[in-house]
Amino acid sequence: MGFKDNAIEEIKSRCNIVDVVGRQVVLKKTGNNHKGLCPFHNEKTPSFIVSEDRQMFTCFGCGATGDVIEFTQRIHNLDFPEAIEKLAGEYGIELKDSGFGTESKKTGLYEINREAAAFFYRKFSEGPNPGRDYMEKRGLDASTLRKFGIGYADEQWQSLLEHFQAKGTDPATLLELGLLSRSKDRYYDKFRDRVMFPIINTRGKVIGFGGRVIGEGNPKYLNSPESPVFQKKNNLYGLNLTRQDISKENSVILVEGYMDAVSLYQHGVRNVAATLGTALTVNQATMIKRYTDNIVLAYDSDQAGQAATLRGMDILYEAGCNVKVLLISEGKDPDDYIRKNGKEAFLALVKDALPFADYKLHLLKTMYDLTTTDGNLKFLKEIAKVLRGLRPIEADYYIKKVAKQTNISEGAIKREVGDPRGPTDADSHRSSGQSAETDQKGAIPAAPQLQRNLIKLMLVKSSYIPKVKPYESVFQDPDCYRIYEIVRMLYRSDEEIDFKKLEDSLGEHELGILHHIMQTVQFADRDDRVFADCISHIMEMQRGKREEEIITLLSVLDDEGDRDAIVALTKELMELQRK
Ligand code: UTP
Ligand code: MN
Repeated sequence: MGFKDNAIEEIKSRCNIVDVVGRQVVLKKTGNNHKGLCPFHNEKTPSFIVSEDRQMFTCFGCGATGDVIEFTQRIHNLDFPEAIEKLAGEYGIELKDSGFGTESKKTGLYEINREAAAFFYRKFSEGPNPGRDYMEKRGLDASTLRKFGIGYADEQWQSLLEHFQAKGTDPATLLELGLLSRSKDRYYDKFRDRVMFPIINTRGKVIGFGGRVIGEGNPKYLNSPESPVFQKKNNLYGLNLTRQDISKENSVILVEGYMDAVSLYQHGVRNVAATLGTALTVNQATMIKRYTDNIVLAYDSDQAGQAATLRGMDILYEAGCNVKVLLISEGKDPDDYIRKNGKEAFLALVKDALPFADYKLHLLKTMYDLTTTDGNLKFLKEIAKVLRGLRPIEADYYIKKVAKQTNISEGAIKREVGDPRGPTDADSHRSSGQSAETDQKGAIPAAPQLQRNLIKLMLVKSSYIPKVKPYESVFQDPDCYRIYEIVRMLYRSDEEIDFKKLEDSLGEHELGILHHIMQTVQFADRDDRVFADCISHIMEMQRGKREEEIITLLSVLDDEGDRDAIVALTKELMELQRK
């Protein structure tokens, strides 16, 4: 039995019974539960109930009841191991290496992490130390610190090492967990003079740590590396403490940082979890959906935060969540804000959080100058991308809203978004954005290859990234755009892109595309040459596009009111056509 226990737990925590049943039975939400016609006996009125909270199904007609595994067994007529295998396959859960050895090893790793957390916690609580002073200075009280198990790693080089040596623990294992570092054949503590945030999963296991420098210093946070027990993309910080509150409130506030989560919690905003600085992943979205569909993103108001917001929003929206974005005007992050202004003020921000589409509309309106023709055109292009991604009813509503808030007519917006009855010839290059391979850009069908080349170039030499920025509209293919967006977020001058981080931030589908690009796009050391070619190609394309834009614009401008603009555009068009 032992070896399957973790696999079973993993399946139960990752395969939401509502999703699994929902694929076989039409379910309707009623109160806290979902209801449908029982698949195990014949009935005309629904008596089959699925409880998301308890992750159980029960039929009041025939008495069938059980968890997600039992459901899978019964509906597909499988035995227990077969059902496990099927679910694991569908949800991408690795069973291969969950043989006896690996599983008991994992248990050992959890145990070591727990021991390390206890060690740091004792250092923090025993007596005065820089870690506790720092956290107190940041306004955190003893009970919050205890709840989150905050610890302190002292400034010595071998405190933790010695602690574990006394217990006979193999340093190689500590190294694998990222608790130690090694130079030559000497081991030393990886976390020194840092405040330690244990990262605990929803099953109560310590899976990793974040260590904050005391005061200023680099890196500000040192995090555990990925290990057999820690996959950043599968976890949210704080969820072990807050998931009941999230269920109860039927909403979650997602923040970026450890401190934001801890601080909101202390101020009584307890339906919170942190994504820890990475872009939100599909797995995290699936996880959070077990507790609620209503998500408020409260990321930092800086540029990185905003990029993360945009990225996270799309993932959550596609996962079927109701996404809102909280805007913090003063103060940089939720922690700063709530400390300065208090709980009520923060809750007011939550109440005013902008729905998904409104946030994008807001952002685009601040990005373009809507008093100029050019600004309007660019804005129209971008907002159309947003509108195209919305559910149909919402799209209708927002088209009206955009028209009302700008000078652009409903008709022009609809035209740009594309005719839902199917693209006309003139529209085909716009509405085919979903299919990378067949994407036809008028006379230049090579665009996807161009996008692929640019991605590869940016990944081999990060100095290309800022140079690509002015031409980023070239990433029309949604997958290439996603990859580009993350690459741009990860970009730090003078550093190559951290490929691992990039991979962690991508969904499976995009990951496939990225790997394909890395394998198939080769330049044989002629990077600079290829890059220059790409850029001149883009400029040529842009001229063509601009022509098209002008033609569109001329067709929507008002003969009387916009006479000057018409004259100017006609002139520009003639010049472009001469080239
Ligand atoms: P921030 O720089 O916004 O930090 O990074 P913060 O959460 O506000 O922390 P304080 O308030 O300065 O203490 C947000 C998150 O990004 C990750 C961490 O998870 C952090 O909480 N991060 C940031 C790192 O992993 N490493 C870093 O060096 C910086
Ligand atoms: Mn902060």
